[in-house]
Amino acid sequence: MGQVFTVDFTGAHILSIEQFQREDIEKLFRTADRMEPYAQRRRVTRVLEGAILGNMFFEASTRTRISFGSAFNLLGGEVRESVGAESSSLVKGESLRDTARVLSGYSDVICMRHPVAGSVAEFASASRVPVINGGDGSNEHPSQALLDLYTIERELQGRQRKIDGLRIAMIGDLKHGRTVHSLSKLLCQYRNIKVMLVSPAELAMPDEYVSALREAGHQVHVTDRLEESIANVDIVYSTRIQEERFQDRQQADLYRGRFRLNQAIYTRHCEPNTVIMHPLPRDSRAEANELDADLDSNPNLAIFRQTDNGLIVRMALFALILDVAHLVDQHARDVFWFNPRIGSH
Ligand code: NCD
Repeated sequence: MGQVFTVDFTGAHILSIEQFQREDIEKLFRTADRMEPYAQRRRVTRVLEGAILGNMFFEASTRTRISFGSAFNLLGGEVRESVGAESSSLVKGESLRDTARVLSGYSDVICMRHPVAGSVAEFASASRVPVINGGDGSNEHPSQALLDLYTIERELQGRQRKIDGLRIAMIGDLKHGRTVHSLSKLLCQYRNIKVMLVSPAELAMPDEYVSALREAGHQVHVTDRLEESIANVDIVYSTRIQEERFQDRQQADLYRGRFRLNQAIYTRHCEPNTVIMHPLPRDSRAEANELDADLDSNPNLAIFRQTDNGLIVRMALFALILDVAHLVDQHARDVFWFNPRIGSH
């Protein structure tokens, strides 16, 4: 795989998970821990007052776009957005590099999602401000992998298990899923991991990720059998068939619903307390229904803790990139208003 270099967070582009070493991840996660009271709006801090985030999403998004924007707001900064390539000058033939030159004059940091692999790196090469990759085609989604690993760490805490020694099943469209690509690369920083890669043969994890996991000394099993793969793992990480990546979208119908998890299957096959994760959106249409709603009352379903963690991990990224992490608590105060989410002042 490509070049490996340590992130010095200050002023850095965040383009690939390969930039991160274990100590960077640790620094980010311990910064994220400190963001929780602000993410829950119990306390307010204004350390990014005057800063502007350019949130450029040229492909569908709900949680990544909103959580990056909210994270920036929660640190006191402002957000400008562009949504959909059709409403930007890219449709008039402007190059990504020109767009980057322009937008980096209006912003202090830019988050970008784009359907083409490598496009965010190209954009970053002409940007005068740090750029965070919010997903480039089926290539990478580094902030998602970081929030996923942060969630894994937190969920395992109560189970006396650690990331080293983790047992995880990744399920679904492993060929096109950028979240599992970035997560696989991230797991290469850890030791002694068992990875079950569960997909239809046509949607298997690309070789480069499988080789990287094996080179890291991990045990990797490639299979298309769900039940036995989820039997002895700590984490079941389900994913959606990435229909937008198929030349012919109807091809995606062939694979939808192949690996369904519901409470009955969970009870029959999983160890008690197996954590269920998904980057979301889960495809809840009847023909897919990869994570049944009957799991919603299962306390091991971590999907909404995962999305909440996305906010604090993204706050931590901004705080480190713009070098205010050490100032967050110094410039904090309590909120005055009744907070309906936590029921107190
Ligand atoms: C994922 C993505 O966009 O890659 N969503 C997300 O950012 N949480 C997964 C998906 O769309 O299936």
